[in-house]
This record gives sequence, structure tokens and C-alpha cells, in this order.
Amino acid sequence: MKLSARITLLAILVPTFSFGTETPKHEDHEDHEAKTGVEILSPDLRDLLSREMEALQNGMMSIIPAYVSGNWAEIESTANKIKSSYILKQSLTEEQVKELHSTLPHEFIEKDQRFHYLAGMLEHAAKNKKPELINFYFSEMNESCVSCHSKFATHKFPALGAEKEGQNTH
Ligand code: HEC
Repeated sequence: MKLSARITLLAILVPTFSFGTETPKHEDHEDHEAKTGVEILSPDLRDLLSREMEALQNGMMSIIPAYVSGNWAEIESTANKIKSSYILKQSLTEEQVKELHSTLPHEFIEKDQRFHYLAGMLEHAAKNKKPELINFYFSEMNESCVSCHSKFATHKFPALGAEKEGQNTH
């Protein structure tokens, strides 16, 4: 199956979520249900996560015009912002940090760390003015978005959830 090569990077089992914190589960996917914690985060923290994601996406999109025009300095600065502004690196209150760590599964933290690492590598590649490496890490970062969403955000991006049953048709 085509997906097998990616399975090592993508989560193997992608649970299906109901949207919202209190709503009942999807009847037809009951067997695959598993709460990951994102849905049960406190509203403040979840809101922060959403806004962080939007900022992340804007940052990623701004990299394309910078890349095609050779504006390495801008990429360096954007990558740096992404690296240091991402939610788990933000200055959250002590309680919120505790909540994140107790609510979110270890795998989420790992994926966040991986993403964070890649942003650092992108920053480094831009600093060294290496277009090939910039492109490589930019692409790795995109994959990292999909990897985490496939596992933890299928309630937001249901199309990513389809991969879990090996449905190669899109
Ligand atoms: C470590 C996990 C993780 C990584 C990495 C990640 N995301 Fe997300 N993202 C999530 C989760 C979880 C949600 C759903 C949040 C919710 O439902 O409250 C989400 C939601 C979003 C949303 C929707 C926000 C909203 O609430 O409307 C966007 C846009 C988004 N991500 C963009 C990105 C982009 C772009 C990247 C990569 C550059 C990325 N994400 C990387 C976990 C991640």
C-alpha cells in the first residue's frame, strides 16, 4: 500500500473526534474513538492553540514569496518567530503548562518538539543562505503539520482522518 512508507512518520492510528468538548461521539466511528486531550483542554488554552495555529499558517505562507525572491533574512526571522512563538514554547502560566502536559499525550509533545526543531533548522539554513536546505526544511515542516493534524486534529481536518483506514483514494 502506498501509504506504508509514510506510516513511520504519520500516526498509525488516527482517531476520529467529535467537534467540541462536550458533544457526543460520532456513532459510526465509535470503535476508533480515543480522546487525545486537545478536545478537553480548557477553553482559554484551546483558544490559544487555535490562534497559534493561524499565526503558524500565516508564517508558513509568507515564506513562499520570501523564498522565491531570495529574501533569506526574512525567512530567518520568520522561522525564528515560528520557533519561539509556538504554543508549547510560549510563556504560559505555570498552571497552563501543567495542564498541557497532563492533558496532551506524549506523542503530541513529541510532534511539537519535532516541529520546533525543524523551525530551528529552517532558521539556520536561511541564515546560511542555502536555498536547497531552506526548501528541504520548509517541506519537512509542512509534513510535520500534516503528521500532527492526522493524529490530533481530524475533527478540524476530516480529510486527514481518511488515511487511517488505508483509503488511498482521495
Ligand atoms: C504538534 C501538533 C501540531 C502541529 C505540528 C501543527 N498543528 Fe495545526 N493544529 C493542531 C491541532 C491539535 C489543531 C486543532 C485545534 C483545535 O481543535 O482546537 C490544529 C489546528 C490547526 C488549524 C486550524 C485552527 C483553527 O482552530 O481554526 C490550522 C490553520 C493549523 N492547525 C495550521 C497548522 C500549520 C500550517 C502547521 C505547520 C506549519 C501546523 N498547524 C502544525 C496541531 C498541530
